[in-house]
Amino acid sequence: MPCRQYTTLMDQRFDTRYDLWTHPAGDRLFESQGGTSRMASLDEHYSAHDIESRILSALRSAGLDPGEGVSPSQLSALDHFHTGGLRASQELSELARIGAADLVLDIGAGLAGPARMLASQCGCRVECMELTADYCKGADLLNRLTGLEARVLVHQGSALDMPFADHSFDVAWMQNVGMNIEDKRTLYREIHRVLKPGGRFAFQEMAAGAVPTTYFPLPWATNPRDNFLVSADEMQTMLRECGFSVEIMEDTSDEHLSRSVANATPAAPGQLGLSAFVDNLGEKSGNARRSLEEGQVRLVRSVCLATLQN
Ligand SMILES: C[S@@+](CC[C@H](N)C(=O)[O-])C[C@H]1O[C@@H](n2cnc3c(N)ncnc32)[C@H](O)[C@@H]1O
Repeated sequence: MPCRQYTTLMDQRFDTRYDLWTHPAGDRLFESQGGTSRMASLDEHYSAHDIESRILSALRSAGLDPGEGVSPSQLSALDHFHTGGLRASQELSELARIGAADLVLDIGAGLAGPARMLASQCGCRVECMELTADYCKGADLLNRLTGLEARVLVHQGSALDMPFADHSFDVAWMQNVGMNIEDKRTLYREIHRVLKPGGRFAFQEMAAGAVPTTYFPLPWATNPRDNFLVSADEMQTMLRECGFSVEIMEDTSDEHLSRSVANATPAAPGQLGLSAFVDNLGEKSGNARRSLEEGQVRLVRSVCLATLQN
């Protein structure tokens, strides 16, 4: 099933910004995203032209035949675009106790690798909310190639204004996305709104460290304009204000640093990797590691419960 573009509001292309001014909700969304220049900047950061051909060519170079179909596990070096790769996703899914009966929302799903992992390993259905049009196209392609298009659906739009009814989901899932979102209270309230009472919100992201972030580009931001880090303590305070109880909030920075760099390094020729669609990956991931090593950022993961109504 193809990506559903429910609104043009959050289409990140610069030349569609006029829709923002004419849409009834445009002002609010425009403000919450920080205006045209920031939206264009984030779009520029993540856009990956011809992503479908780039993915197909990377698969062929890695010896896979897209015509024969591929399995989610064969894609994991390519489609888990977050710190710690597949292993971090598997650990988070265990912490969140995701099972076949759950309806999961993946926020900022990227190419939907984690969503396909959850659908294939846990047997659940997953709806993906993703801002970047190119990534939605890539996610749709990979859903078709893995035969998971009926269980992993992709919606293009913003996590700050999602096209879902209240209390729709058992689990909300988010990996390495909050760093791009300045208005975290609106994000958390929106997630709380679409979760069923008692639903789980499982996430990982980079938090602010003891000193400011100075090395750019990073995998999530070309420049400071798209980098919105808060400390783990500030996250917890905001989550509670927005109706969550925090079950788990742990700092996994040291554990991550002691492990290999997994899919953060550019793949060698003939190997699948994020560099199929992320430009300057070596520089970005090198800066991320250095930022972690020097305490400019911290890697955190959390599981929260939607308890109170807000
Ligand atoms: C570093 S990637 C992570 C992708 C995916 N979660 C993964 O782990 O593979 C960050 C993603 O967040 C998306 N994103 C950033 N801001 C967003 C927003 N306001 N709403 C929806 N998606 C957003 C970006 O387009 C990008 O795909």
